[in-house]
Amino acid sequence: MNNQQAKQRVEEISAFLHEQNHAYYVLDNPKITDTEYDALLKELSELEEAYPALASANSPTKRVGGTVSERFEKVPHQSPMLSLGNAFGEADLFDFDRKVKQGLGEADFSYICELKIDGLAVSIQYENGHFIRGATRGDGTIGEDITTNIRTIRTVPLVIAEKGFVDVRGEAYMSKQSFAALNVQRDESGEEPFANPRNAAAGSLRQLDSKIAAGRQLAVFVYGLGATSELGDISTQSERLDRLGELGFHVNKERRKCANIEEVIAFTSEWTEKRNTLDYEIDGIVIKVDQLDGQEKLGLTSKSPRWAIAYKFPAEEAVSTLLDIELAVGRTGVLTPTAILTPVKVAGTTVGRATLHNEDIIREKDIRIGDTVVIRKAGDIIPEVVRVVLDKRPADSVAYQMPTQCISCGSDLVRLDGEVALRCINAACTAQIREGLIHFVSRAAMNIDGLGEKVITQLFEADLIHTVADLYHLQYDQVIQLERLGEKSATNLIEAIEASKQNSLEKLLFGLGIRHIGAKVAKTLAQEFGSMEKLVAADHEDLIAIDEVGDKMAETIECYFEQVENRQLITDLGEAGVNFTYTGKKVDVLSLTDSSFAGKTFVVTGKMEAYGREEAKEAIESLGGKVSGSVSKKTNVVVAGEAAGSKLTKAESLGIEIWDEEKFINEINDSKRD
Ligand code: IVH
Repeated sequence: MNNQQAKQRVEEISAFLHEQNHAYYVLDNPKITDTEYDALLKELSELEEAYPALASANSPTKRVGGTVSERFEKVPHQSPMLSLGNAFGEADLFDFDRKVKQGLGEADFSYICELKIDGLAVSIQYENGHFIRGATRGDGTIGEDITTNIRTIRTVPLVIAEKGFVDVRGEAYMSKQSFAALNVQRDESGEEPFANPRNAAAGSLRQLDSKIAAGRQLAVFVYGLGATSELGDISTQSERLDRLGELGFHVNKERRKCANIEEVIAFTSEWTEKRNTLDYEIDGIVIKVDQLDGQEKLGLTSKSPRWAIAYKFPAEEAVSTLLDIELAVGRTGVLTPTAILTPVKVAGTTVGRATLHNEDIIREKDIRIGDTVVIRKAGDIIPEVVRVVLDKRPADSVAYQMPTQCISCGSDLVRLDGEVALRCINAACTAQIREGLIHFVSRAAMNIDGLGEKVITQLFEADLIHTVADLYHLQYDQVIQLERLGEKSATNLIEAIEASKQNSLEKLLFGLGIRHIGAKVAKTLAQEFGSMEKLVAADHEDLIAIDEVGDKMAETIECYFEQVENRQLITDLGEAGVNFTYTGKKVDVLSLTDSSFAGKTFVVTGKMEAYGREEAKEAIESLGGKVSGSVSKKTNVVVAGEAAGSKLTKAESLGIEIWDEEKFINEINDSKRD
């Protein structure tokens, strides 16, 4: 075969295979057998090897991946990738309709409804008919170059019959079937399963090794164009979608033109019912003004178009049995109830615990042990009990009674004025003291590395510490005796405690856990008074003279320093050498919040009941934390689920704070309350 013949054959096979690929993956209508396809692919691959100059970037042989990048390059989008405003019910849709009508005046218009695919937005670009680049949405202006991974997606055509620059926008996703198969495979090879198809798709597109992405069975539904391109003479979104389909793109067929908002609402109701019949996940319906001139007239806000809106389906609910109600006493003495449930899948993750908030909620919803309950994830993150299925209530069921005495110290619980929470107000309550100690050493407070909940509990139970001042008398010989604490960690721990003495006053003030004194107020007080002595001596007038301090807060502060035990504690801390002055040392701004998450770096490992990896990540990030994949000295907290392995061991050896799932959920709930 000469060069010319080879060229001809390569072109012939390539075109044929592109066509077969389209028939198989997009039209779901294969024309040749897998064996025939494979034989041709093999022939092409051999030709390309023999004549390397003939191997084009978009050859069907390139679908299998193979390139490994070091990192994803950033790419600016030619026109921004916007997001959509949300509608959560009919009222929001009527509101959208009203604004559209207002914007369009007398002009006639109609809507087009499309499924909102739950995946991730991608931009797929072509130059003179050839696929040239794929990018993630990124921040909407700059995305990441995932060209080699997009090339492996079979529903994306690599050549199209359209000249010039075309920027196609769509949603990359993984079908439920591929997702399930992938998780079985991961389970077998000991890898962590993905929480849901969206995470699986995102994780796959972010593979630096395109071979891995190629093996992941991703797909893309396209739904639009970047503002810089158009496909000939087209005047509506419906025509545009039809045209994209003709060009070989995978366009979702469950779309409908609607003459008015009532028809739109009917479509949303229909799909709210039918959504689970699909082999891919959808999280709503996108409603667009169909006429492109209408879209142009309505224009954009800074973030999203005025001509479209995303109707979001109501949160997915699940039914479970409430096995028990678990109670925990927090640092401020508040008793928090948690529902222990028969594990059940909700919105992609298995949930075994759910927050019950407080006694009022339990009473209002009449939640009882043994009840069948409906649960959902609040804000799609924190599992909560929505209601009881009364029909299924066992005949012998009794109303749940919160205890009247503290489960830790036995003293009477009280409800302070205007509060829904039940509290233990015994200053000597063991649970509170323990939680108070944990708070004192936490990052936003004294920031003592290596002193997490576990070590504090051990120290406390071994009778080595009762107050926070006792920490400063700990000796190496004492801490080395603690279980699982090696020589290095013990030395580091003593050093970290010693170093914390130098903290600026606000860290100590916050660490004391005075009610209503969050990190921010602590800093103001430290700045204003300059020293602990001055603050202790301050009277009501001095305190309320400060902007952020009102009557109530001033009273709490005065009250705190009037108590004999607290005065003793301050004296003990002073004698131990703890700094009492505001040194103005730069304090991590992000730690100036009561949240246990803000500014901290987390690593999540092992399997949790209520949280998938991505959910945990989202929860942490929504509370201001960062999530990293590997444990290092910079890690602040490791959230360890069941069967956590090497990351946990490493965290332990580095003396990093470790939270189990229960602690994680409690911290989330506490932070949300703040
Ligand atoms: S239109 C100008 N149509 O939903 C914005 N978006 O915030 C154009 N999505 O991440 C979006 N299916 O990727 C549109 N049929 C559809 C969609 C869709 C899923 C995603 C989109 C974006 C989010 C909207």
